[in-house]
Amino acid sequence: MIFKERFANKVMVVTGAAQGIGAGVASRGAAEGARVLLVDRADFVTEVEEGIIAAGGKAASVQCDLETYEGAAEAMAAAIAAFGRIDILVNNVGGAIRMRPYAAFEPPQIDAEIRRSLMPTLYCCHAALPAMLEQGAGTIVNVSSNATRGIRRAPYAAAKGGINGLTQALAMEYAEAGIRVVATAPGGTNAPPRRVARNPQGDDVQEQAWMAEAIAQVTSSTFMKRYGTLEEQIAPILFLASDEASYITGSVLPVAGGDIG
Ligand SMILES: NC(=O)c1ccc[n+]([C@@H]2O[C@H](COP(=O)([O-])OP(=O)(O)OC[C@H]3O[C@@H](n4cnc5c(N)ncnc54)[C@H](O)[C@@H]3O)[C@@H](O)[C@H]2O)c1
Repeated sequence: MIFKERFANKVMVVTGAAQGIGAGVASRGAAEGARVLLVDRADFVTEVEEGIIAAGGKAASVQCDLETYEGAAEAMAAAIAAFGRIDILVNNVGGAIRMRPYAAFEPPQIDAEIRRSLMPTLYCCHAALPAMLEQGAGTIVNVSSNATRGIRRAPYAAAKGGINGLTQALAMEYAEAGIRVVATAPGGTNAPPRRVARNPQGDDVQEQAWMAEAIAQVTSSTFMKRYGTLEEQIAPILFLASDEASYITGSVLPVAGGDIG
């Protein structure tokens, strides 16, 4: 469903916009009137941008690595350069790289999960706040996960727990400055095959078995006993980003078929 003009006059920055949930948020946000800055380190983010423009929407894109502060600063500067302001920031970059029992994680693998699923959101919030403070308004939607209560990905769970803490702390700190900070906590989501894999090295047979255990746990923890669809994740992110959610801040909304994460 499209709510035409819901984001008219809004500038929306979406991170991790080349595929999956981020591409969907960017495309539907643009269809609903937002001017969208798509951020990703994958070069095919331009294909999503071109699709939006071909459909009559307004978009620009920038390629940068949000695991660095410089990348986050570059992304926000690109939004200002293209559209002059930042009304909405959707921090979508993240995702478990490996599924293992915690004792089987190697120390550098623990660091990599935190860098992937916590640091881009920490950095992007910090880099976007000056523009929002100057405007006296802004909305940040962070994408967390129900994995905060799940097996085989404890470092990712810790990163997403960090996202939840950041969401609440920033919401409290900046509410009086006109800035809302909210999050969704998606559950398992069906999507087309990823063009950029979470783990570029691929999963060995043991890791595939551990992933199957995590998938079984995620599915059984939902009341609905199924994965969600991309649309079922995109819709609540855009609701929270919209002015319809104007009295909601500091909340982490579980979007996981009844699993509260
Ligand atoms: N898909 C699920 O089942 C699921 C479940 C729970 C939570 N989530 C969360 O939803 C969000 C999106 O998930 P997804 O499955 O659509 O993601 P995905 O892995 O399919 O896509 C992530 C995108 O982010 C980009 N990216 C990764 N690291 C980056 C970096 N350092 N700088 C710039 N771009 C970078 C990738 O290139 C890719 O385009 C993530 O935060 C994830 O943790 C997803």
